[in-house]
Amino acid sequence: MIIAIDGPAGSGKSTIAKLVARELGFAYLDTGAMYRAVAWRACEEGYDLASPKYAAIIHIAQTEPITFGFEPGEPVPSQVFINGVEVTLAIRTPEIDKAVSPVSAHPAVREALTEQQRVFGQAHDTVMEGRDIGTVVFPGAELKVFLTATPEERARRRARQNREKADAASTQGEQFNGETDEAAVLADILRRDTYDSSRAVAPLAAAEDAVTLDSTDLTIEQVVAHIVALVQERAGSSEHPEHPERPGKAPIKCFPPRNDGINRRFPGNGNTK
Ligand code: DC
Repeated sequence: MIIAIDGPAGSGKSTIAKLVARELGFAYLDTGAMYRAVAWRACEEGYDLASPKYAAIIHIAQTEPITFGFEPGEPVPSQVFINGVEVTLAIRTPEIDKAVSPVSAHPAVREALTEQQRVFGQAHDTVMEGRDIGTVVFPGAELKVFLTATPEERARRRARQNREKADAASTQGEQFNGETDEAAVLADILRRDTYDSSRAVAPLAAAEDAVTLDSTDLTIEQVVAHIVALVQERAGSSEHPEHPERPGKAPIKCFPPRNDGINRRFPGNGNTK
């Protein structure tokens, strides 16, 4: 079974997809990390991404395997490698945030990574997150979720998440250089939204039969519970309730927001609004 979770940067896809995978005992694949790993290699080679050497970048995508490392007994990976080199923290810098857009827009790069993603998904029950999982990679996915939130909320979450990652890295004597300034994160999110939605190949878009969830005012638990309920509903039925047999369903706003004043929302959200 494939659960496709697509949506723009900072919509909470990673947090939600990992929790859903844990809850269901499914594998988890972060396809954005794969595009980031290729962009990291291109930067490492010193390619000028303003006039990218696509032949070389395509070669990287086609020949350098991207793999994931797991803690013992843990289904969700904690490390990313490209060609055996660990890049877990290195792919989360502002430099890679910028470099990944032109790299991920190239059709041959997408083709190479899409192929790897299909092989992974065919081997496991998987929660797969990205931009084009429900539309291109697995158009037959049993459940497709399109996760959104306002750009401002996404920037707040991402900046906060990066601050937390930087603190965690420094306690381990490592360095995490993700952007922590909210205004800078917002500018990058708006730039990537435009780029990802307007590119010619596999643009960011909700599949026609996706369930759209706006997570702006929802807790993590609410979104996860809703997705798990949808999975159980679909697993228990041979027909897909939101499939074309029942067209035109409005996007679901699943639960009322929690107003208990406790910050139980996304790790990137310190604001209890
Ligand atoms: O999810 P993320 O922000 O880590 O993704 C990094 C970039 O990769 C994002 O700007 C768009 C691109 N991407 C893509 O084009 N297709 C995917 N399936 C996943 C990510």
